[in-house]
Amino acid sequence: MDKKLAIFSGNSNRPLAEKICGYLGVKLGNALVDKFSEGEIKVKINENVRGKDVFVIQSTCPPPNRSLMELLIIIDALRRASAERITAVMPYFGYARQDRKDQPRVPITAKLVANLITTAGADRVLTMDLHVGQIQGFFDIPVDNLFAVNIFVDYIIEKKLKDPLIISPDVGGIKMARSYAKRLNAGLAIVDKRRVNDRDAEVMHIIGEIDSKPAIIVDDIVSTAGTLTEAANALSQHGAKEIYATITHPVLSGPALERLEKSNLEELIVTDTIPLEKEKKIDKIKVLSVAKFFAEAIKRIHLSESVSILFDR
Ligand code: R5P
Repeated sequence: MDKKLAIFSGNSNRPLAEKICGYLGVKLGNALVDKFSEGEIKVKINENVRGKDVFVIQSTCPPPNRSLMELLIIIDALRRASAERITAVMPYFGYARQDRKDQPRVPITAKLVANLITTAGADRVLTMDLHVGQIQGFFDIPVDNLFAVNIFVDYIIEKKLKDPLIISPDVGGIKMARSYAKRLNAGLAIVDKRRVNDRDAEVMHIIGEIDSKPAIIVDDIVSTAGTLTEAANALSQHGAKEIYATITHPVLSGPALERLEKSNLEELIVTDTIPLEKEKKIDKIKVLSVAKFFAEAIKRIHLSESVSILFDR
């Protein structure tokens, strides 16, 4: 890659940033991203970025507030150091689930975060499996939203499951589920879920025939794993024998691990948009890397080539 390309990272997902740099043959930029004694974030870019095309890799994953502030402050430092163009690379875009006023007097955090990133000085955003595609429109700068579906589909094909059935765990996930079903030439069923509170979900109905086919639940986020484990239970009750899940962003908070351990899931397949701490690396969880895909997208953005070509199969 040419000398104008520079890549920096905060602390939220350095292993992924290192891997992306490895694919690109670029050294991760030298920057201090630390804390002052009272907890404020301290950043210093330790190399010249004047006139460079800079990519900042930072998932806004747990701890979300710290991850987000690190990203904003790094962008601010780069802008003041005269970087020519700054791309916020957010493999996981947090705060996305509050994307509309679905109750009185609630915020729209996805829009607030979009405003913050733009105001800090980002010129574009590169992300993956946004919670809803409309979040692209919350920005007035270009947003490239990559899809992990092809990475998961390759893995599923290797498993040689016989006649699998794709399951959307809620009505909002139908579009994603359809993209899997199309690529795998598989049937589709939908779980009609009701959210009881932040941690719990309840299955109301299942739309579609389940019978004894292997079932693959597909989703963008697994947080408390309430949605996932309730869907898996309901599928078992309807006759599913082997149940898998492919979920892009493993937030895995609160009771998630306990629920997963106790669940009837054969395997939960996730990506490394969010790093898994040691205690979360359980046998049931398989991690696929998105590093090569992001590296290719960064290269294409840098060289002004098509990114959408990466979605083709
Ligand atoms: C909901 O719309 C999302 O796609 C996920 O299903 C949800 O965020 C998962 O949350 P949890 O794991 O806490 O049920």
